[in-house]
Amino acid sequence: MPSELDRTAARSAGDLEVTNTGFVLVAAFIAALGGLLFGYDTAAISGAVIFIKAEFSLSTFPEELVVSMVLLGAAAAALGGGRLSDHIGRRAALKLTSLIFIVGALICAFAGSFPILLLGRAIVGLGIGLASTTVPVYISEVSPPQARGWQVSLFQLAVTIGILTAYLVDYAFAGSGGWRWMLGLAAVPGLILGLGMLYLPESPRWLAKHGQMDKALSILTRIRGTSDVSAEFQEIQDTLSQASERGHWSQLLSPAVRPALTVGIGLAVFQQITGINTVIYYAPTILQAAGISSASGAILATAGIGVVNVIMTLVSMRLVDRLGRRPLLLTGTAGIVITLGILGFAFLKPGGGLAHIAVVTLMAYVASFAISLGPIFWLLISEIYPLKIRGLAGGTAAAANWAANLLVSLTFLTLVEALGPSRTFWLYAFFAIAAWIFSYYLVPETKGRTLEEIEQSLHGNAALRRSDATQNS
Ligand code: BGC
Repeated sequence: MPSELDRTAARSAGDLEVTNTGFVLVAAFIAALGGLLFGYDTAAISGAVIFIKAEFSLSTFPEELVVSMVLLGAAAAALGGGRLSDHIGRRAALKLTSLIFIVGALICAFAGSFPILLLGRAIVGLGIGLASTTVPVYISEVSPPQARGWQVSLFQLAVTIGILTAYLVDYAFAGSGGWRWMLGLAAVPGLILGLGMLYLPESPRWLAKHGQMDKALSILTRIRGTSDVSAEFQEIQDTLSQASERGHWSQLLSPAVRPALTVGIGLAVFQQITGINTVIYYAPTILQAAGISSASGAILATAGIGVVNVIMTLVSMRLVDRLGRRPLLLTGTAGIVITLGILGFAFLKPGGGLAHIAVVTLMAYVASFAISLGPIFWLLISEIYPLKIRGLAGGTAAAANWAANLLVSLTFLTLVEALGPSRTFWLYAFFAIAAWIFSYYLVPETKGRTLEEIEQSLHGNAALRRSDATQNS
């Protein structure tokens, strides 16, 4: 049996880091449920809409509306949600998110008329927008620097699992036309998120920002599992004392924050205009256009794409704290350029063997996204902004992401009609080249640095500009 001395030695040798990691992990897993709901609710509609259309006799526009209402709600909530979480706290914002998810899902499930269904979808959208601004920031603020990359990426992992679950649930209920179940089931993870948040602590960084130093220190001590958190705590205090008094909209455009804002909004838009959701939302349609004639074959291949998305997100999580953000981002974006280019060629002459090339290339495209723009966008926007305006600035980037998502989702089918699939994919490939150049010159490396060190580099006027970025490439 180990003596007390052994136990103490083990503790000081970092044994307690295991406990600490365990605690932060639970926090990260629960918060990441917000991501699961994000993925589930954006993807479940793809199967449900077929039956909704029939039940309410919808023409094209109302059909588009029921799909995109969630994106509209998400954009609005992301814009306001960041400020809300700066104001009421990350924990309260997440509890509210859970409530909104539950109410929205139940309204959808029991909607007696089309307008009520639209209302339910808009409410679900608010939940998604709030989750997308609050979850990455919360995880980022409770995680230790050396594990922050993969822990925040749990959010993206949850998004991809949510998408895959939605494909499977849609498939399971397709036989009975059970769209109410497809949409209503989202209440379950919503409830778990809410219950979980009752037990999780507030972010110590948010508490410190609001002057609750004692509480901040005691929570930091608890989640790090060691009494020696003085260096980290001191760093938080120093950074706060240097920042100006109140986080405000005008600060977003201050010279110190502007480069980070450009990175966040730029990546937000590039993440969407390189076409990911044309695949996530329209995969069966694309696959049928590529020459896979049976609907079940197309659905099966779609599920395959969902699995690749999950697996490659796991790969990215393994690498992000070792290799860093930039190598993954640049490699994956290059992969996006190449696969979109090939897809364009595959669609020049659909049918025959090209159908298989299309499936494999679509999978390679999603794999490239899953190691790069997918997780790394959400990670960076939780890291690169000063604490005072972290929610607000991250919310702005998330809102830009939702707005770009809406734009691409609404224009994809029209673009395919006007330009044909080949040119449409080449257009996205062109945007991906721009994304690569943007990332190469502007995106900083944040691996292994504390949030405070990252913030210091903003104040130090070196900002997040090229020199800072390239030195780590
Ligand atoms: C994007 C979503 C997308 C998902 C696919 C997320 O990072 O923001 O729009 O549907 O990745 O995995």
